[in-house]
Amino acid sequence: MSVSTSQFPVTKIAHSRIGEVDPANIQFGKIYSDHMLVAHYEDGEWKQPEIMPFSNLSLSPATTFMHYGQAIFEGIKAYKDPQGNPIIFRPQDNWKRMNKSAERMALPYVPEDIFVDGIRQLVNLDKAWIPTSEDTSLYIRPFLFAVDEFIGVRPAEKFMFIIITSPAGPYYSKPVSIYVQDQYVRAFPGGIGYTKAAGNYGMSMYPTAQIKAMGYDQILWTDGFEHKYVQEIGTMNVFFKLGDKVITPDLSQGTILAGVTRDSVITLLREKGVTVEERRLSIDEIQAAYRAGELKEAFGTGTAASIAPIRALTYHDETMELPALETWETANFLKKELADIRYGRKEDTHGWIVRA
Ligand code: COI
Repeated sequence: MSVSTSQFPVTKIAHSRIGEVDPANIQFGKIYSDHMLVAHYEDGEWKQPEIMPFSNLSLSPATTFMHYGQAIFEGIKAYKDPQGNPIIFRPQDNWKRMNKSAERMALPYVPEDIFVDGIRQLVNLDKAWIPTSEDTSLYIRPFLFAVDEFIGVRPAEKFMFIIITSPAGPYYSKPVSIYVQDQYVRAFPGGIGYTKAAGNYGMSMYPTAQIKAMGYDQILWTDGFEHKYVQEIGTMNVFFKLGDKVITPDLSQGTILAGVTRDSVITLLREKGVTVEERRLSIDEIQAAYRAGELKEAFGTGTAASIAPIRALTYHDETMELPALETWETANFLKKELADIRYGRKEDTHGWIVRA
């Protein structure tokens, strides 16, 4: 992959806030690094992106995205290798996915140099913010939104692209309990399920709050027609190990996010000789496997969540308890293998690593 080497103008922060970080207690999404990248799109073109101190924005209350939700985002992580050099995991794949989301949401195409070189420059500038303990990283959040000052309903003409970064610990600190949702729906064919549109997350807040009040951590969404084919979990893709096969919902309906971690997992497992099936998977099939003692593992995958084991899955009146985590060959292999590649401890044979 070719990466151009644009250098964007930088205004540095006068006093770093890095002292706010407690390396022994890094949570997800609470603290933001010193700098951010901001780019404006106007008159049909991108203006010069700039790197500046992380700060509040000033926007008109009539700004389009606040009313009509023309907004998308991405999630990427940076790590440090054993020599202390920054490593970014698969940023080009997130760049490509952001542009797929952008097309569907009538947002402008973001060039690779703004997205990937912007990340590299920002990560280099704030490399002191990359935490180094196991399961920590610098979470990178690029986002793109419409900023016309106009409340008529039409695709906007002015946009902003911003990248912020945040030192992050594990998204889930322990195995999660999942509720299979068959009342509310996340996505239909022809909709925006495959995009990382802000609205896909906004619509999930109410159903998620309901199941959290019932004691569950996250929702497993099912299809919008029959409410029986599993799609994805609120914050991640999903994999089930039934017998010795690993199965994950396929992307063909356009209802599921094409996760970069999902793709990494499929690649690593197939290389190891594990059978991975991407296909329709019904909750009935999972339930039948559970009753036959064949539900061996279930886990979510995502940039924020990494590999997140599921401890229990509840569908209607039945709670399917998963076996003890120590017995999970697949998820445990993936967690270690991915961490070794991401922290530069193992050779990257896939071209996934980008040096900042
Ligand atoms: C990610 O995994 O990067 C996500 O965007 C999921 C979530 C934090 C919304």
